Amino acid sequence: MPASIGDAAEKGCDMQQQAGGGATRKFNETMFRLDSRVAIVTGAGGGIGGAIARVFANVGAVVACLDVDADRARSTAADIEAGGGRAIGVACDVGSELDTLSAVARVVADLGRPTVLVNVAAVMDRSGTVLDIDLQEWERVHRVNLTGAYLMSRAVLPSMIKVGGGSVIHTSSILGRIGRAGRVSYTSTKAALLQLGRTMALDHAAQGVRVNTLSPGTVETDRVAYRFKELSPLQREALVSRIPLKRFGQTEEIAMAALFLASDASSFVTGTDLLVDGGGYET
Ligand SMILES: NC(=O)c1ccc[n+]([C@@H]2O[C@H](COP(=O)([O-])OP(=O)(O)OC[C@H]3O[C@@H](n4cnc5c(N)ncnc54)[C@H](O)[C@@H]3O)[C@@H](O)[C@H]2O)c1
Repeated sequence: MPASIGDAAEKGCDMQQQAGGGATRKFNETMFRLDSRVAIVTGAGGGIGGAIARVFANVGAVVACLDVDADRARSTAADIEAGGGRAIGVACDVGSELDTLSAVARVVADLGRPTVLVNVAAVMDRSGTVLDIDLQEWERVHRVNLTGAYLMSRAVLPSMIKVGGGSVIHTSSILGRIGRAGRVSYTSTKAALLQLGRTMALDHAAQGVRVNTLSPGTVETDRVAYRFKELSPLQREALVSRIPLKRFGQTEEIAMAALFLASDASSFVTGTDLLVDGGGYET
């Protein structure tokens, strides 16, 4: 690790990204910017991942939009490019080691070494108890939601460490902290991501890598609309009324929290979980 800012500059490495670096940190307006940093966002074809990719590009990041759905990955990247940002869309199944390694190799070759990784990709579960959920369904959900974050971290960390560190964010959920009847596979993946994040934070602090999790409450995305489509207006109203801020979240509100964790504004934050849920945790 470079011993001083001068050292860091000489080595072409941004001291501001060093989690363990001792540089004095004073507020300035560029702390929330990601100028020229290469950021990988998985699940970037979806609601929250797409918003994170767009917000990061807006503050100067070069964004690799990864998704198993190649069209959706390319569509988010095309949107960013149309708005004057820089992005590429990459097809990648995060549950496949081969896919994660080749996607990251392409990002490094086309854009440079990533210093930000946001693991957003996830699948919904089929509702059921342990008696209803067969092993195949259990493994399908774990493969993407949990193993995907592990495989992406394995693929990205060597490059990130080579440039002095960076920020890794796993997307958990309020359902990683509380139980929810009939959601055994999804809730267990989201709880495990919290521990993956905390332990990675300890393991890689000395290498300048900060690792945190982000836990959204209910956010209005297509997947949530699909899940709620059976609800009557009255049932929906009852759900909203239990949230202290009396509404569901917006994708951009999750993206702004991700930006905090990705940027130098959170330079002393690692191993933590940022809950963004409108105050609904205790309800
Ligand atoms: N929307 C919410 O209310 C909410 C609440 C809490 C947590 N979350 C979490 O936020 C994240 C995003 O949720 P969303 O609502 O935007 O979902 P979404 O369904 O809109 O997006 C998920 C994206 O992941 C992609 N994906 C699925 N399997 C993949 C795989 N194997 N490899 C790569 N990409 C894959 C999908 O194609 C999709 O584009 C998820 O991790 C979810 O668990 C969402």
